[in-house]
Amino acid sequence: MRYTASMFILGIETSCDETAVAVLETTGETHTDTPRVVAHAVYSQIETHTEYGGVVPRLAKFEHQKNLPVMVKAVLKEANASRQSSKSQNDLEESKIKIDLVAVTVGPGLAPALAVGKDFGVEFAKKNNIPIIGVNHIEGHIYSAWLDQTPSAFPLIALIVSGGHTQLALMHDFGEYDMLGSTVDDAAGESFDKVGKMLNLEYPGGPVVSKRAELGDSEAYDFPRPMLTSGDYNFSFAGLKTAVLYALKGDHAGRMANAAATYSDEITNNVCASFQKAVIDVLVAKTKRAVKEHKPTGVLLVGGVAANERLGETLKKELPVPVMIPDKKWTGDNAVMIALAGYHRYLDGMRSDPDTLDIHARWPITEII
Ligand code: KG4
Ligand code: ZN
Repeated sequence: MRYTASMFILGIETSCDETAVAVLETTGETHTDTPRVVAHAVYSQIETHTEYGGVVPRLAKFEHQKNLPVMVKAVLKEANASRQSSKSQNDLEESKIKIDLVAVTVGPGLAPALAVGKDFGVEFAKKNNIPIIGVNHIEGHIYSAWLDQTPSAFPLIALIVSGGHTQLALMHDFGEYDMLGSTVDDAAGESFDKVGKMLNLEYPGGPVVSKRAELGDSEAYDFPRPMLTSGDYNFSFAGLKTAVLYALKGDHAGRMANAAATYSDEITNNVCASFQKAVIDVLVAKTKRAVKEHKPTGVLLVGGVAANERLGETLKKELPVPVMIPDKKWTGDNAVMIALAGYHRYLDGMRSDPDTLDIHARWPITEII
């Protein structure tokens, strides 16, 4: 789809271990646009952090500094090329994309990593004399549900499950949230990663633990369902992780508690399946109760863990309303969702002051002004 009057947004994401850049095209007029991804790129630093089994902030910062300028240049070039290829030779000059807005993640996330994107975005906005909006990463994940599909009408419930967050939010309108609950300790994705580490599987654990889970017996281990009956919408995954550790120690008496060892395929697959089932049971039960109480028209499943097919299938089966899951290319961190979140905030009149724009390592979505 090509708009008659277009607004181009440069999205920048550096909150953790992915450097991401995107150019998004919108009408600049309504919340109900079908946004068009003109060009985008994600560079994952997984290889840099793998040997440490987790993200090292200092290294993440260094990698973002090295890669971001190159990626912005490449994405802008690709955006221009895609536009020019659909125009006649005479229109080439005027078809060059002019970026109208910079949308950059300023929180929550790792402070040294966030600062790289923020500083770059501010400089770009100032140089081009265009507005900049500091975007909340979690809100970005929520808007990923509007890429390639149009969710049902408000109110909606969003289940946000990523490496850093596990939250249930009630969304009354674009940009209007009530927080129903969140994790009191580890995030869902983080628990997948830690279990993967205990089993000596590849980092990050989520994708490989979920693959192994498909080969195992989910009844083999009786892991706890933490806070299942707590009566609120909060989550806790630290105890579940500890239960997995004890189960592994039981299977291999005498091992050091934190020593990652190689376990048989049978043990590995069964632990993964039983652990995954426990996580899904809790996520689904809490979401089900939130749906019963708040009666949304649908549920959005977003964030890195939304790539877990078993979680998506179970939610779809158990909930009485439609469950909308972004395409896998948008579930992990990307800058397209950041550009879209910035667009919605722009429509609501938000502008950040480039001279005072700051990063927020912690920043609940209910506190976005
Ligand atoms: O949203 P994301 O890319 O980054 C954060 O904002 O944290 O999420 C990354 C998380 C990691 O913990 C990763 O292990 C998890 O998402 N993940 C999965 C799956 N794919 C990625 N967890 C469970 N099952 C998956 N298939
Ligand atoms: Zn994320």
